[in-house]
Amino acid sequence: PIPKAGDLLALAVATARAAADLVRERAAGVVEVADTKSTATDVVTQADRDTEALIRRLISEQRPEDAFFGEEGEETGGTSGVRWIVDPIDGTVNFLYGLPRYAVSIAAEYAGEVVAGAVVDVAAGTLYAAFRQPDGSAAAVRDGEPVMVRPPAELSQRLIATGFSYDAGLRRVQAEALVRFLPVVRDVRRIGSAALDICGVAEGTLDGYLEEGLHLWDHAAACLVAEAAGARWEATTGAGGRRFVVVAPAHGYDELREAAVQAGFLPVDSVPGV
Ligand code: IPD
Repeated sequence: PIPKAGDLLALAVATARAAADLVRERAAGVVEVADTKSTATDVVTQADRDTEALIRRLISEQRPEDAFFGEEGEETGGTSGVRWIVDPIDGTVNFLYGLPRYAVSIAAEYAGEVVAGAVVDVAAGTLYAAFRQPDGSAAAVRDGEPVMVRPPAELSQRLIATGFSYDAGLRRVQAEALVRFLPVVRDVRRIGSAALDICGVAEGTLDGYLEEGLHLWDHAAACLVAEAAGARWEATTGAGGRRFVVVAPAHGYDELREAAVQAGFLPVDSVPGV
């Protein structure tokens, strides 16, 4: 049977809340690096691992036939057509340092499309949630209240968030692009959690977000929230198979994308895609 997006969302929300409780509990104790991943700056803590294990258990207890794709564990297949895409702690470096900007992100995909997403800002306790209706439209809420993107603004008046890769070579490219991009916008923020940045676009605390080198688990849930709040987004695969993600209110999207191309954040010949 085709699962109801509302049911998937209810499970995503309950699970994200339980996971956020665990992350909050761990944040109150001693947080240490357990291991490094792609590079020495790409760290994982025991809390990342334990939280992902909790999420996997809570979801599989309810829906054992689903596939699961998380940042910290083995990807597992399923037979239901539903795949869960999970980042147990998005903003691990902030979590490590006690900077209160990190999130639990859980998305449910059906037939290759994200249909439900929950993001919990752990320190603030805020829940962002969205699901796709059967007609393709989507609705988003923050703590139960509808959210909406900011009204249109000139490029020079826009506050844009970005992030930096854990790869030193890509960081150099990002730093060079920033040299060209920073003078044409109001300012740039590097907050440290892609999921919260994208939810920031959804709620209108940011005018846009862009970053190269993201993973699906960083943005899957938050992009549905942003889309439902009036944003447009793309996750284009660029050089070396890296994902380049742009999220902005639909009315100012093309202008931001063009500025990002001109600055060198993404290749001149790249085409908007998902
Ligand atoms: C990271 C954060 C960060 C972004 C990185 C991501 P993680 O996720 O979202 O803001 O700049 O690209 O990898 O590693 O903390 O889950």
